Amino acid sequence: MFPTVLIVWQLTTVALVYAGAHRIDSGALQPGGLVAFLGYLLQTSMSVMMVLFLFMHVPRAEAGAERVREVLDTRSSLTPPAHPVRILPGPGRLELDGVGFRYPGAEESVLHDVGLVARPGETTAVVGSTGSGKSTLLGLVPRLFDATDGEVLVDGVDVRELDPRLRARTVGLVPQKPYLFSGTVATNLRYGKPDATDEELWHALEVAQAADFVRDLDEGLDAPVSQGGANFSGGQRQRLAIARVLVARPRLYLFDDSFSALDPGTDARLRTALRAETADATVVIVAQRVSTIRHADRIVVLDRGRTVGTGTHTSLMRDNATYREIVLSQLTEEEAA
Ligand SMILES: Nc1ncnc2c1ncn2[C@@H]1O[C@H](COP(=O)(O)OP(=O)(O)OP(=O)(O)O)[C@@H](O)[C@H]1O
Ligand SMILES: [Mg+2]
Repeated sequence: MFPTVLIVWQLTTVALVYAGAHRIDSGALQPGGLVAFLGYLLQTSMSVMMVLFLFMHVPRAEAGAERVREVLDTRSSLTPPAHPVRILPGPGRLELDGVGFRYPGAEESVLHDVGLVARPGETTAVVGSTGSGKSTLLGLVPRLFDATDGEVLVDGVDVRELDPRLRARTVGLVPQKPYLFSGTVATNLRYGKPDATDEELWHALEVAQAADFVRDLDEGLDAPVSQGGANFSGGQRQRLAIARVLVARPRLYLFDDSFSALDPGTDARLRTALRAETADATVVIVAQRVSTIRHADRIVVLDRGRTVGTGTHTSLMRDNATYREIVLSQLTEEEAA
């Protein structure tokens, strides 16, 4: 339709100018009359085009509105607590008791009867091979999904009973694939604490070993971040995500493989700074690298969704075949390198 209207308009213009020129020549028409007529023609064809636009856009808008409505109408699969607990009764002790989990629509459970206790002031590490359910386990704490069996307790309160705002303030998760929002470095860092001062942001960046590269950016804290943090490297994104959680100062820190993209030196410096920063908090670290977790107060070994051992590095090395296997596989790798 659109090209047709344009062609009709152009051809009419040519015909008008042709016929008009002859009439002007013979004195029957003033040049101004012809110009005015061309103006009218332009206005009418514009109106026709507007109507066409409308016809083109209405179905598109309808389809778009339908999708927006679908999103707005979606009910959360997590039921809000009937009597939410608004104040945490303790310092933030995390306990998983007989937790099982099956993804919706999946045939098999990912977690079976997992038990774990993480105490404030201690670092608890979770190790296990790829796909053993470590990220799934951490996701149960901030209720990314709810456990199908058993309970996830913070200070003895089931996370399902916690007031959502209290839960958000208590649990700080650094996901395995950290996501940065479009905006600036500062808006990303203030995500969990909108009224944080610049000093607090810089302090968090120092601890997360991110201060150096943020200082090197031309605009510093106001440097733009594109959707998903695409203008930062994987390691930089990880460190900004760690700083974001540090700014919020939760009681419970959950780091899901958050040190994997860092070189060993930065990794060690970050963990030293982190230990001082999170001295009173409950820290749970998921890591592949044994060097990252060997000094943890407690190490939980996960194998295909089951806890197969809990203890310190030394005791697990002595008693736990799965743990020994993980450690030895990495030792030989490093030695080979
Ligand atoms: N959204 C999902 N839907 C269905 N199954 C999933 C989903 N996410 C993970 N799984 C399955 O759950 C299992 C555990 O995944 P999970 O991400 O918890 O492993 P992981 O221990 O964190 O592994 P990695 O060390 O690679 O990060 C995997 O077998 C995976 O196929
Ligand atoms: Mg994972």
